[in-house]
Amino acid sequence: MSAGSRIFRRGHRPVRRHTAELEWLGLHPGLQGTGWGTRLLEHGLDALVKDGVEAVFLRTRSGTGLGGFYRAHGFAERGRWPRAVRFADGGYRAEVWFTRDLP
Ligand SMILES: CC(C)(COP(=O)(O)OP(=O)(O)OC[C@H]1O[C@@H](n2cnc3c(N)ncnc32)[C@H](O)[C@@H]1OP(=O)(O)O)[C@@H](O)C(=O)NCCC(=O)NCCS
Repeated sequence: MSAGSRIFRRGHRPVRRHTAELEWLGLHPGLQGTGWGTRLLEHGLDALVKDGVEAVFLRTRSGTGLGGFYRAHGFAERGRWPRAVRFADGGYRAEVWFTRDLP
């Protein structure tokens, strides 16, 4: 497994070229809590700004605690879809939507 990865997808339609979605940000468990998540995220956001992106969107699952990480990095919750995620054991989680204006 790699140490960590980050995937942004730029909006492809002309009316969404000024936006991007953070599709994935994750670290190897042994590196979590060491500041590398912040570095990976902020370095990626800096690159997007240089490329003319004005806003970033992402989605998380409720119950993961990840909302706290993204709020600490300037993202605002824009809504949530209850029971959008269903697990094999029958449990549900909401999908939570966040955005951050850049820079
Ligand atoms: C979320 C993640 C990218 C953060 O990276 P990191 O290097 O661990 O975080 P950092 O060390 O940069 O922490 C920065 C701050 O965010 C906080 N933070 C980190 N992870 C957090 C979490 N899950 N919930 C709330 N706060 C969190 C830290 O406490 C720290 O705050 P502080 O500076 O006030 O102490 C990383 O922990 C990770 O990959 N987690 C697993 C992600 C995952 O499971 N993805 C799949 C979801 S479906």
